[in-house]
Amino acid sequence: MHAIRNIVVLTGAGVSAESGIATFRGPGGLWEGHRVEDVCTPEALRSDPALVHRFYDLRRAALGGVEPNAAHHALARLDRAWTGELLIVTQNVDDLHERAGATRLLHMHGELCSALCAACGTRTPHRGALPPGSACAACGAAALRPDIVFFGEIPYRMDRIVDAIGACDLFVSIGTSGAVYPAAGFVQWARERGAATLELNLERSAGSAMFDESRLGPAGELVPAWVDALLAAR
Ligand code: APR
Repeated sequence: MHAIRNIVVLTGAGVSAESGIATFRGPGGLWEGHRVEDVCTPEALRSDPALVHRFYDLRRAALGGVEPNAAHHALARLDRAWTGELLIVTQNVDDLHERAGATRLLHMHGELCSALCAACGTRTPHRGALPPGSACAACGAAALRPDIVFFGEIPYRMDRIVDAIGACDLFVSIGTSGAVYPAAGFVQWARERGAATLELNLERSAGSAMFDESRLGPAGELVPAWVDALLAAR
């Protein structure tokens, strides 16, 4: 194996679990209270915008009561210290990576703290509730929606992600069940590129067999230990 210089980290709901944000598919996960098809599709947004907006309003409001955990802080430390390429690709729509200080970060499934104009495509930072029919500051249309990539929509920045995985020496997946594509396929792309692959997850995931190594445990313990070892080995 060649020396590690370029790293891609993929994170999922498990990285925020210890901050108190429920995962999607675990016990007490969001989908148990709300069916995916009721809240996370373009069709639902058309047929019941009030429900969809309220769902995301509640999740946005809940961010005020949570803090980044040791895993977010360790990744931010890696971001500051790593002199090679690093891209943290998160499927999470919370803002805990950036609140911990990560900057080389991309939200492939959108962000709770952003509004998207369905008319002109402008994305604007947004806090507080976002009632249906809110006006876009750029074009004036009453068309602001949560800036979330719904099922059936194309994740953001796939070009950048494909490039980063194509150039990475190490791909690390943290706290994701491997149930949702295209993110679930990133490990395969990384393997084809010849990168080393590591999974850090509470339990075996749908994709565990694809990784060179899977370490099982809470992200708040596994991620700081991995970052410490990586930085010490430079
Ligand atoms: N530490 C590490 N991993 C954890 C922890 C923890 N403390 N707690 C839970 N996990 C693991 C679970 O074992 C599970 O494998 O995190 C994973 C979370 O999986 P999901 O709930 O499916 O979340 P995620 O993989 O991020 O979902 C992907 O699906 O619904 C869509 O768009 C949504 O971005 C989301 C995508």
